[in-house]
Amino acid sequence: MKKAFGVLVAAAALAGFSFNAQAQDNIPEDMKALMTKYTCIACHRPDVKLVGPAYKDVAKKKYTNDQIVALIYEPKPSNWPGYPPMAPMKQVPKEDALKLAKWINSLGGGKKK
Ligand code: HEC
Repeated sequence: MKKAFGVLVAAAALAGFSFNAQAQDNIPEDMKALMTKYTCIACHRPDVKLVGPAYKDVAKKKYTNDQIVALIYEPKPSNWPGYPPMAPMKQVPKEDALKLAKWINSLGGGKKK
């Protein structure tokens, strides 16, 4: 009985640890892979402003997923006064751009999903 409890505690601690590790930068593994592949990660984070705006601030603009895809291909710097212009990222395949767009929108202000 005691032993089983110990194992449970260890499992819970492990689960808690991996949860925290992920919470630190808030980027799910698959999205991190895409952001790394297409270099978005150099300029964007989910919660903090870097070279570009935090994705959660992008989400607040309530774009549709398709609008975000269009903006990845053809950024409109006038949407973000005070930031340097983002280069068009036309090398991102539509499928991956849409995955990123959906994820960016999922970070949004919590009003609508
Ligand atoms: C070299 C830095 C840099 C890289 C790399 C970069 N961005 Fe950006 N991004 C910016 C900056 C700066 C802005 C704000 C100015 C602008 O929109 O031109 C921005 C804006 C955005 C916006 C908001 C568009 C709008 O008009 O509201 C989205 C969405 C976005 N980036 C997604 C991405 C994605 C996805 C990638 C990777 C495929 C990426 N960015 C790569 C710097 C970057």
